[in-house]
Amino acid sequence: DAAEKGGYEHYMRKEIHEQPEALRQTITGRLDVDAGDVDLDVSFPPGFLADVEEIRVVACGTSYYAGRYAAQLFEELAGVRATVEIASEYEFGAGRTPDRTLVVAVTQSGETADTLGAVRRANEAGARTFAVTNTLGSTVTREVDGTAFIRAGPEIGVAATKTFASQVATLAMLAVSIGRDRGALAAADARAVLEDLQGLPGAVQQVLDKESRVREAAQTYQDSEAFFFVGRALGVPVALEGALKLKEISYDHAEGFAAGELKHGPLALVTPETPVLAVLTEGSRANETMNNVTEAQTRGAPALGCVSADAEYDTLDVDFPVPDVGIVEPLVANVYLQLFAYHVANEKGRPIDKPRNLAKSVTVE
Ligand code: AGP
Repeated sequence: DAAEKGGYEHYMRKEIHEQPEALRQTITGRLDVDAGDVDLDVSFPPGFLADVEEIRVVACGTSYYAGRYAAQLFEELAGVRATVEIASEYEFGAGRTPDRTLVVAVTQSGETADTLGAVRRANEAGARTFAVTNTLGSTVTREVDGTAFIRAGPEIGVAATKTFASQVATLAMLAVSIGRDRGALAAADARAVLEDLQGLPGAVQQVLDKESRVREAAQTYQDSEAFFFVGRALGVPVALEGALKLKEISYDHAEGFAAGELKHGPLALVTPETPVLAVLTEGSRANETMNNVTEAQTRGAPALGCVSADAEYDTLDVDFPVPDVGIVEPLVANVYLQLFAYHVANEKGRPIDKPRNLAKSVTVE
């Protein structure tokens, strides 16, 4: 067991640190940056995507948050209306056009019963189905029309870490691929996104190199009453994922919000005992988010922010710098939130790789 952990005390920390390598595997051989093209090595029937009117992502937990990130990219890069649904809530409602819909199931394991159930309902309704998974030969791959593998390597810790990063990177490539196929994305714009993806492994490494800062922050704030995570746009799924990670492994109360929603209710919970962790990067409308963070600070809350390298927010209690990688900056910020969750849980001596009541793969509906 110790050898398998490669010198780390927990699989989770090992897997957090494997992200640069996992991301390299995810993108290797798939990007043609000069041409602004992607080859995800998926075999679709000809014209499979050309007339798609809508993409519906179905997933659970962390994979659902990867889907929420992706839905924004599908709209922005592929020019297709995209929604994301919690798999156990997914139905084909009236007014939908299944034959013009692509249902994308995002699942690390490929075995999550809720997600498989959604895929089956989509198939019955006549939709085209696609899977984004880490697991070769998994059940989902046999139920869909096409699969893209995220190639993150095995993930043992119950808390998903490197697979979230590789899922989002894969979905970003899918968005570029669909956008290019449909003529919705210019080569120059595609090139910029692919360059950001190429910069992702190095950017994540820079964050990992700052782990001691995150550990210090975790030690400072670990005894807080609750933790709130906020962001806007691409920062929202990252805020939600940051909160899930913390509650899952530390057992502390944590919630993620769209930053603009704080003033519509959650602000009543904010006190000097509730740190606010904010995504303040490109793609997350940092200035507007910071205004909301300031509202929380006015109520005494400590504020920690993941901040783009070229921005500065002097009033933050702690700032974590995020290298400049465009629309994947929120994904890089997420690595700070993973480390924060890990170190809070570690300070509390929690069984990080096997949190109580949870299983790595949930095979019951
Ligand atoms: C993430 O940390 C959780 N363990 C959980 O939310 C997980 O992402 C969810 O159960 C979905 O699993 P899947 O990706 O294998 O479908």
